[in-house]
Amino acid sequence: MDKSLIARSFGGAIRTYDDHAVVQRVIAGEMVRLMKESGFPHNAAIYEVGAGTGLLTDLILKAFSPSRIVANDLCLEASKPLGAISGRIEFVHGDAETLPVPAGCTNVVSCSAIQWFSDAGKFFCTVSAGLPAGGLFAFSTFGPGNLREIRRIAGVGLDYKSLEAHVEMLEAAGFSVRHAGEKTDGIILPTARDLLRHIRGTGTGGVSSETWSVARTRRFCRDYETQFAADGGVALTYHSLYFVAEKK
Ligand SMILES: C[S@@+](CC[C@H](N)C(=O)[O-])C[C@H]1O[C@@H](n2cnc3c(N)ncnc32)[C@H](O)[C@@H]1O
Repeated sequence: MDKSLIARSFGGAIRTYDDHAVVQRVIAGEMVRLMKESGFPHNAAIYEVGAGTGLLTDLILKAFSPSRIVANDLCLEASKPLGAISGRIEFVHGDAETLPVPAGCTNVVSCSAIQWFSDAGKFFCTVSAGLPAGGLFAFSTFGPGNLREIRRIAGVGLDYKSLEAHVEMLEAAGFSVRHAGEKTDGIILPTARDLLRHIRGTGTGGVSSETWSVARTRRFCRDYETQFAADGGVALTYHSLYFVAEKK
């Protein structure tokens, strides 16, 4: 993964993210619902990985009144929206794959970020090493069906792992999995150009450094509108995975 490209892509989308991230907002809500259902503790010290503009951070502050919340992101620009949510959020800038769990944090959370990691299995070992026994690791990521229409037409996409592969990696890292589930959400955008704006607006364009020519963009839009026409526009699929795991 090209981390500087990912950071640039999300950095450029910080101001548009909240308007475009309709699915990510629903996912953060679902994650909090699952955390409540799984007995996620109140007043705990929480480390959030890939917090972005803080969709999940905000919900966690309201639902779990953490004693401390440390929010990490690869992208320095994230510090501004996070600071606007609450002065209590401690921002840690950098690649979460190379950072330890901050000392004193007893639970780790993340939404819609880990699919960008180069080695999720190794990252799960880092999280496991930094948590006390009984500490919870609650996260969402994306699965193989995510943005499948774009992969079909443009041949680009992340190397999404299945639910089962994530469970295996969690168990190998020393977690017992309390919850593993998946969900498919389809959204409709008016045109393929709106879809490209949606992808850029959520920062997801960082998957490729290639700049498309006018002709390639036109061909993409034409093919997309032919193959994935839906009532009211064109269809796009999000495939989300949810986990709550306990350090043994
Ligand atoms: C789709 S956004 C999700 C933001 C937020 N968690 C949410 O649910 O809306 C993905 C975030 O992960 C961050 N990210 C990607 N790779 C990262 C890494 N290796 N370390 C830390 N953050 C990373 C990006 O900068 C971006 O802000």
